[in-house]
Amino acid sequence: MAYKVLNNILLKDVSASGLASLKTDLLVLVINKETKTNASFKDLNKISKNYISKTISSHLKESGSSVLLPNIDGIHAKNLLLVKGLDKKDPIHKWLSMYQSVAHKGNHIGSKDISVMPGSVTPNGKDEFWLIEMVSKTIESNVYIFSETKNKTIKKPSVKKLTVLTSGLSGSNLNKAKKAVKKGYAVGEGVNTAKYLGDLPANHCTPRIIERKVKAMTKDFPKLKVKSFNEKEMQKMGMGSFLSVSRGSEEPARMMVIEYKGGKASEKPIALVGKGVTFDTGGVSIKPSPAMDEMKWDMCGAATVFGVMSTLARLNADVNVVGVMGCAENMCSSKATKPGDVVTSMSGQTIEILNTDAEGRLILADCLTYVEKYKPSYVIDMATLTGAVVIALGRHASGVMANDQYLADKIIESGEESGDRAWQLPLWDEHQSCTKTKYADLANIGGGREAGTIHAAAFLSKFTKNYKWAHIDIAATASYSTPVKAGTGRPVPLISELILSKKLK
Ligand code: BES
Ligand code: ZN
Ligand code: ZN
Repeated sequence: MAYKVLNNILLKDVSASGLASLKTDLLVLVINKETKTNASFKDLNKISKNYISKTISSHLKESGSSVLLPNIDGIHAKNLLLVKGLDKKDPIHKWLSMYQSVAHKGNHIGSKDISVMPGSVTPNGKDEFWLIEMVSKTIESNVYIFSETKNKTIKKPSVKKLTVLTSGLSGSNLNKAKKAVKKGYAVGEGVNTAKYLGDLPANHCTPRIIERKVKAMTKDFPKLKVKSFNEKEMQKMGMGSFLSVSRGSEEPARMMVIEYKGGKASEKPIALVGKGVTFDTGGVSIKPSPAMDEMKWDMCGAATVFGVMSTLARLNADVNVVGVMGCAENMCSSKATKPGDVVTSMSGQTIEILNTDAEGRLILADCLTYVEKYKPSYVIDMATLTGAVVIALGRHASGVMANDQYLADKIIESGEESGDRAWQLPLWDEHQSCTKTKYADLANIGGGREAGTIHAAAFLSKFTKNYKWAHIDIAATASYSTPVKAGTGRPVPLISELILSKKLK
């Protein structure tokens, strides 16, 4: 099953045909200084008897602001949305939110198709193809509305088609622009996949339901090979750490492995590992009640793996990637793991579980050991792992920690490129001492109130010694908390950019 919202995104060059005859529900024009000299715009303005240029000078003051003009005589578009463009110097997040507003406006006024002319101004260091890709990605991922668990009369996204308009593109540049549209669309689809899985309530998104959805995806994308492991099979592999998390739940755990081979057979794969806790009560170390519902998004690492794999398959990307989704529900019951229990991980290291709410690292530990068999070139795990990362970095950046600086650098670079930012925290030898305990090789918590995000990574690093690895803590970025309460689909854009741009040598 595909999770794209739009049925189609097209690219059309309007230099020959002009804008006035364009049939669309909503024509969006991004206005900046250059626009006034654009022939298609001049023509349109003339037809409107200068109504457009007068509106621009009287109503569009602040960049990013917009004005909607319905039904202009002589113009075939049902509505015209004039948006004051940004400056080259404006940061990327402003560009993203500008097009996010365009997508919302399209749904708000019930447009079925929208046509967007982004104009020629691009942010510093980015070219027109970057802009086209960003428009395609941002609109696809923002026309998304979650409605599955609402009654049937609820508003669904009205926008079903997007046309990105260019002016003066031909030949190889037109082809490049078409590729950019396609890439943006596929990344947007991956974002929506992750948003949707995250937004589903936990009783609609158990490990077995995710398993069904992952298997269903192979119908759309036969190039994705899925293996799923049940608890018995995980037990056989010695995954005592992972299984300690699902012990207290009626819902059995699942580990899904998705293989995508689009590159040379000899090329080592990149491995992605995602935390998929479908609900985190904290277990016996139970969480406080306020906002506990937000723990349905504790599977966003796994959802990111799902989203990225679908993006790669959609694009037929020439890369080899293996994605592992570690899914379990963390509940408290008479069977649940208790503080002080000691379990044996797949790596052979024993773990004293001092806090059952530090469960993500227990799942990841065994998944990270499991991926060794693929002899991966790089391993990246993504997890809503610690509340501490929200305090350390705020909501705008994911936290990166790594045992390989090149990998960390490329992750941060891809975050800048895609507007899905990440920032590094240190992972030094000094941080390792905190995982010591009397009763096992490791404890699952350490460091008290200090540097909780780094100590979680230090624990993971005990399982990633044999390969180049980075950990991305997405607890702050994968979803918006109160009052918005919604999945963001992050870090699908970052990871897709990292893999598709082949930054990793
Ligand atoms: N799923 C939580 C982390 C989390 C917190 C995600 C807030 C999203 C928003 C994780 O399993 C957890 O509970 N971590 C504990 C670790 C602690 C017990 C060492 C935390 O951050 O409090
Ligand atoms: Zn927890
Ligand atoms: Zn958790």
